[in-house]
Amino acid sequence: MRDVTVGVDGSPPSLAAVEWAADDAARRGAMLRIVHVIDRYPYRLVDASALDDQFADLASRILTEAEKTARDRSPGLGMRLENAEGRPADVLRRMADESAALVLGSRGMARTAGSILGSVSMQLAGHAAGPVVIVRDRPRRRVGEVVIGLDEAADCQDPISYAFEHASRYNAGIRALNAWTLPSHGYAPEITIDVDAVRAGQRAVATHQLARHRTRYPALPVFDDLRTAHPVEALVDASREADLVVVGSHGRGRAGSTVMGSVSRRVLRHARCPIAVVRPCTRH
Ligand SMILES: Nc1ncnc2c1ncn2[C@@H]1O[C@H](COP(=O)(O)OP(=O)(O)OP(=O)(O)O)[C@@H](O)[C@H]1O
Ligand SMILES: [Mg+2]
Repeated sequence: MRDVTVGVDGSPPSLAAVEWAADDAARRGAMLRIVHVIDRYPYRLVDASALDDQFADLASRILTEAEKTARDRSPGLGMRLENAEGRPADVLRRMADESAALVLGSRGMARTAGSILGSVSMQLAGHAAGPVVIVRDRPRRRVGEVVIGLDEAADCQDPISYAFEHASRYNAGIRALNAWTLPSHGYAPEITIDVDAVRAGQRAVATHQLARHRTRYPALPVFDDLRTAHPVEALVDASREADLVVVGSHGRGRAGSTVMGSVSRRVLRHARCPIAVVRPCTRH
């Protein structure tokens, strides 16, 4: 059984991530691995060896507070506390590859000017082999719904599998959101298209994509939500009344890509609930 790993830097969003990760580990029956990475890079131009004790002391305070947060949330949970050194995104990416999930706060201590998402979260979501969950606030009242953003172009189904597994562990239902819009042909109004046929096509693809997951989890309620809307708007809207939104890191042809799709990137910035970003094909 792989651990659930959470990265902590002492910030309130990272403690929200600890609470989410503690719940997730408890539901999986997994260990919670709490990691703080000491980043000496900003001090590379000076002799910072005199700061060793302070670094160690800070790390220990951050880890102790995170442990207490996790313990309050889930008293019987097995945990490991870990101090690492290096660039946080690099160290955490390696850990994500061997974890059931890597959980991070949307922001950290530094609060990169003008950004809604910190650079560590941005570098990891969609760029690690395993699922990366980004948490903004402390977990709220459970709604009982997990949203999966369907991408008809995706060849691999790891994001859908992740959503079904998660919903099943939490006794939640699935909202399978498939949003689509047709391009507007401002310069070619003579181009017309049978919208009903497109809708029927979209529905058929969604039905096909969900079929084997429905068979695997026959008791799990699944709501097909086919919307004429931009996917970013539809997913952000659905995130207001969901426990988790699951998105793939990219669609067709990008399975080996390290560039995250624009929909996932924008949903990460604007969603109102935790987001799980799952690479479509990595563990096949
Ligand atoms: N040194 C670290 N060790 C472990 N986890 C970290 C560390 N730094 C950040 N994280 C994780 O990443 C999350 C986001 O922090 P991030 O550093 O990306 O944002 P920030 O500090 O607001 O901005 P900046 O990009 O300027 O550092 C944190 O909530 C935490 O979960
Ligand atoms: Mg930071």
